[in-house]
Amino acid sequence: MTWRASILTLYPEMFPGPLGVSLAGRALTAGTWTCETTQIREFGIGKHRAVDDTPSGGGPGMVMRADVLAAAIDAASPQGDRRPRLVMTPRGRPLTQARVRELSAGPGVVVLCGRFEGMDERIMAARDLEEVSIGDYVLSGGEMGALVLLDACVRLLPGVMGAVASGHEESFEGGLLEYPQYTRPQVFEDVEIPAVLTSGDHGAVERWRAERALADTRERRPDLAARDGSPERGS
Ligand code: ADE
Repeated sequence: MTWRASILTLYPEMFPGPLGVSLAGRALTAGTWTCETTQIREFGIGKHRAVDDTPSGGGPGMVMRADVLAAAIDAASPQGDRRPRLVMTPRGRPLTQARVRELSAGPGVVVLCGRFEGMDERIMAARDLEEVSIGDYVLSGGEMGALVLLDACVRLLPGVMGAVASGHEESFEGGLLEYPQYTRPQVFEDVEIPAVLTSGDHGAVERWRAERALADTRERRPDLAARDGSPERGS
């Protein structure tokens, strides 16, 4: 079954963009997934096809109109479409690998990309939109966020990544960062590959990797380590 991505944007030329090359691009050509865009401006108001207006209550910038967004969403995702509707916004819930896995396992996604200062809040409930953030920083629009989300989903589609894609030893699977990797040469600028990795003792390798994953997660991402429910250091 083809995984369908529908993107609503003022900049359809940004898609598939970087997803047209490499693994995602090959999967797109193969029909594993599709990437359709809807130009929001086609649903704009009046001669100038206005999609935004000044913020109620005053303040800088412009706000995307709920009526325009509703019309665009209804065209791209008519009633009966089972795909989740996402909207990219720094106000959203942070994207996680767990949510990416769920989205990837479904029929596809409808993704609304915002520009300007934001969108009329009423569209969120009116069209059951799931607000998604890709991190605590502000992009100039949702398009780059949508590309990030799509890349994370598409690489998990069956056949896209080959053997690597089973992916259960990746970062965030099991709530931890992945262990560090090494390859030849044996010595690089006076630094050797950890001896255990070339010992041929698979049990020892596994134990070393599990320990490093936990130690690195605790050091770099105490937030993840805490969520993992793993025992605190020293206990
Ligand atoms: N649009 C602007 N900033 C964003 C972010 N951090 N995540 C998702 N969409 C955005």
